Amino acid sequence: MLDITDKEFESIQKITYSRIGVNLRPTKKPLILSRLRKRLEDLNFSTFTPYIALLEKSGSEELEIFINAVTTNETYFFRHTGQFNYLYEQILPSLIAKDQKKVTVWSGASSTGEEPYSLAIALIEFAKKNRGFTFELSASDINTEVLEEAKEGIYDPRSLKEVPQSLVDKYFTKQSTKHGERFAISSEVKSRVEFFQHNLLTPSYKRNVDIIFLRNVLIYFDRQVKENVVNLLEPCLVKGGHFFISYSENLNDIKSSLELIGHGIFIKK
Ligand SMILES: C[S@@+](CC[C@H](N)C(=O)[O-])C[C@H]1O[C@@H](n2cnc3c(N)ncnc32)[C@H](O)[C@@H]1O
Repeated sequence: MLDITDKEFESIQKITYSRIGVNLRPTKKPLILSRLRKRLEDLNFSTFTPYIALLEKSGSEELEIFINAVTTNETYFFRHTGQFNYLYEQILPSLIAKDQKKVTVWSGASSTGEEPYSLAIALIEFAKKNRGFTFELSASDINTEVLEEAKEGIYDPRSLKEVPQSLVDKYFTKQSTKHGERFAISSEVKSRVEFFQHNLLTPSYKRNVDIIFLRNVLIYFDRQVKENVVNLLEPCLVKGGHFFISYSENLNDIKSSLELIGHGIFIKK
């Protein structure tokens, strides 16, 4: 049976940390084993040592497959609903009041698309009630597999548990598949999100973004990586722009120009 030695696990930890900043704790050993077992079998490797050598080869194409396997992509529509309410009821009206008719939004760890599509629904709803309001919405992740799933936009009912029925009726189509019931996001919503691959450890060319969602990813980083990631995103945000993290994260231990104004909500000073 496939196992992983302490030394092999240390090498996996080092690769994960240097490539995507994720700090794999020793308790993640069984998870790594279960996620990579099939891949090692397909490659006919009976131990992790040759697999690690493959990952360490320069320009290794295996890295993408490895990153796709080791990232955690749990998400659902309207996760932390209060933050979407704050966006809809406070931020967007305050921008309109300042005569700003267009907002630019970026979901920086978008996983399978539930977060950016929730943003798209909120922004479309707002635009329907506020003539002249427009938005640009982009979404990125390091994991190429989840980006493809996001572009497909077909979801398990579990992902929709926080979506009000009126919005389900309006923006989803129910499908019967061999895997059971699925919900396809409407083309009206789908067409509003531009997905792209981006590693949060690298700088972004984006500027003048009004709102960044970066939820449930900082939790995988240590203090230093968290500070680097936040500092790399700060120049992308306009002064007075909003930055969202999840309810289980904080920026208490890092230096940044972001000031806490609500539950997981910051403003750039
Ligand atoms: C748990 S999901 C969060 C999804 C969504 N933001 C939410 O809160 O529901 C975390 C995502 O962060 C992505 N991720 C991890 N490290 C990353 C990195 N260095 N750059 C970009 N995305 C990364 C993972 O691939 C994963 O899809």
